[in-house]
Amino acid sequence: MGNIFARKSIEALKAEAEETEVQALVTHGGVPLKRTLSVWSLISLGIGCIIGAGIFVLTGHAAATNAGPAVALSFMLGAVACAFAGLCYAEMASTVPIAGSAYTYAYATMGEFIAWIIGWDLILEYALGATTVAIGWSGYTVSFLRDLGIPIPDRFAQSPLAYDAATGLWSHTGAVLNVPAMFIIAAISTLLVVGTRESAKVNNVIVIIKVAIVLAFIVAGIWYIDTKNWITATNPEGAFIPPNAGTGLFGWSGILRGAAVVFFAYIGFDAVSTASQEAKNPQRDMPIGILGSLALCTVLYVLVSFVITGIIPYDQLNVPDPIAVGVDAIGLTWLSPLVKLGAVLGLTSVILVLLLGQPRIMYSMSRDGLLPPWGAKIHPRFRTPYITTIFVGAIVTILAGILPIGLVGELVSIGTLFAFAIVCLGVLALRMTQPDIERPFKAPAIYFVAPAGALSALLLMLGLPGDTWLRLGIWLIIGLSIYFFYGMRHSKVGNGETAAGA
Ligand code: ALA
Repeated sequence: MGNIFARKSIEALKAEAEETEVQALVTHGGVPLKRTLSVWSLISLGIGCIIGAGIFVLTGHAAATNAGPAVALSFMLGAVACAFAGLCYAEMASTVPIAGSAYTYAYATMGEFIAWIIGWDLILEYALGATTVAIGWSGYTVSFLRDLGIPIPDRFAQSPLAYDAATGLWSHTGAVLNVPAMFIIAAISTLLVVGTRESAKVNNVIVIIKVAIVLAFIVAGIWYIDTKNWITATNPEGAFIPPNAGTGLFGWSGILRGAAVVFFAYIGFDAVSTASQEAKNPQRDMPIGILGSLALCTVLYVLVSFVITGIIPYDQLNVPDPIAVGVDAIGLTWLSPLVKLGAVLGLTSVILVLLLGQPRIMYSMSRDGLLPPWGAKIHPRFRTPYITTIFVGAIVTILAGILPIGLVGELVSIGTLFAFAIVCLGVLALRMTQPDIERPFKAPAIYFVAPAGALSALLLMLGLPGDTWLRLGIWLIIGLSIYFFYGMRHSKVGNGETAAGA
């Protein structure tokens, strides 16, 4: 009948990892687990997954609708929550000596029920994360193609649906579908069915391109910052923190909501924690890798926020390609296509990582009996979890074609924050209940770091509108129903078919 507290044994996890070529969730998937990653490789791994639609698109969205120039403070707030959670993630990951996702780690340490919630939440995070980044990719690609003299009509490059968070009303934008966003998801999903391994080298090149264009934007734009640009219809005095105009609309509540929105920009740093088994010296390198990539991104993000809101009035930033609009505004027309091309490449690699990870989580859950067995089918020739890749790819293609970016981004943020809070509390509980298990990496000051991580995640979640909470609630109710009606009954560990943890 199952057992919601069942834990999977490390032996079972190791056997599974050896038995199949499918790797759980490592961006450098397929590489045997050797302790080869230096601090710099860890930081580069982190940045490869982190810098994406958050900074290239959502910064403009959050500045225009939530925080104004104070979106820089939103980024700082988001970074604090990530830093605490990142340390807890690293500790949880290091306790389980195989590469995996937070789902796998939770199954070995916190038991099946918590693992299910985290796994179900990760499905949301990765699928809708890929949707969000694909919509951002579309914005920059369309803009780049327009510069090349290849215009794509708005009707086929935008979401047909618009959502007004203030009124909770949906409207029709007049567009048909966001075809480029659908195209990139379909293309990458096909690539993933055939099989690809993101190599560390490609990742490093893309990281350099991404960081270079962000730095170029900062260095070029910083000279044009003029606080007169802070003056807008909603901010006639030109204050750094525009006056509050309702919950989540400017003022401090706007900064908080902005933080929850731009929190998306930090998602991905947890990939560093999944590499703990490959770090040369986990105890020293993991916190440096996680906090280092976070710190670097925070500095870049805060500077970009200052520059972008300093060169263009923030109410003009709710566009699909705000950074490119910023470059155009200062008249550096030669830089604009480079920024767009760099953004397109950088966003492509984030979509790849997200679409690579998502089906593998579903695959693990199917293999454990928590989801139907068809999800665990491996393609005989390509050795990829092709059914889940095609299934997820098809759904995400449709979502990317019809949904507006703000709505999906918020849902990804709330889902990830929720998983962070559970991980922080779970790691603390484990320290108390099982103080003696081997932890190659221990988070410092756990009695402060874990509660602070859970509370800061909760605070950011509180910044999001009720509708987003409702959507998360619906997702969790669907998940719990599947678990209690299917997963728990078919669980291999819960029913004693696979070795359980001690
Ligand atoms: N942090 C990633 C991005 O901003 C998911 O695209």
